[in-house]
Amino acid sequence: MSFVFTKKNTLKIQELKKSYPKKKALILPLLWMVQKQDNFISEAAMKKVADITEQSYIHIYGVVTFYTMFRLNKPEKKIIEVCRTLSCELNGSEDIKAYLDYNYSNEYEILEVECMGACSGAPMCTLNGKYMENVTKEELTRVLK
Ligand code: FES
Repeated sequence: MSFVFTKKNTLKIQELKKSYPKKKALILPLLWMVQKQDNFISEAAMKKVADITEQSYIHIYGVVTFYTMFRLNKPEKKIIEVCRTLSCELNGSEDIKAYLDYNYSNEYEILEVECMGACSGAPMCTLNGKYMENVTKEELTRVLK
């Protein structure tokens, strides 16, 4: 099975190439694009990224498996990511995660992730990729209904 970028993403890649003279520097933006497009990164997509960036497949595989935020399998449920890094941890992310696990694990895949760069909004999480900051159990309950 092959992977094909959408027409919109193909145009974005052409634009990105202008900003990244070294093709290797395109690896992470392309992997994010793949994950946003398919919700996971397939072997075929990694091969496509390898072709575009002129890197080996195993190098791309190494990048994908190094970062915990990249998914190798298609998620069966909608995803909630809860940041577990220091600022979020100090502001209650562990409690938020436990609350989500207890109440929503049948409907959502609830993942712990490292800092997502929104520390000033700790605790934060994402719901289908959209950031939610200063989250509370009450707000989550409201949004998830
Ligand atoms: S520590 Fe949670 S977003 Fe940075």
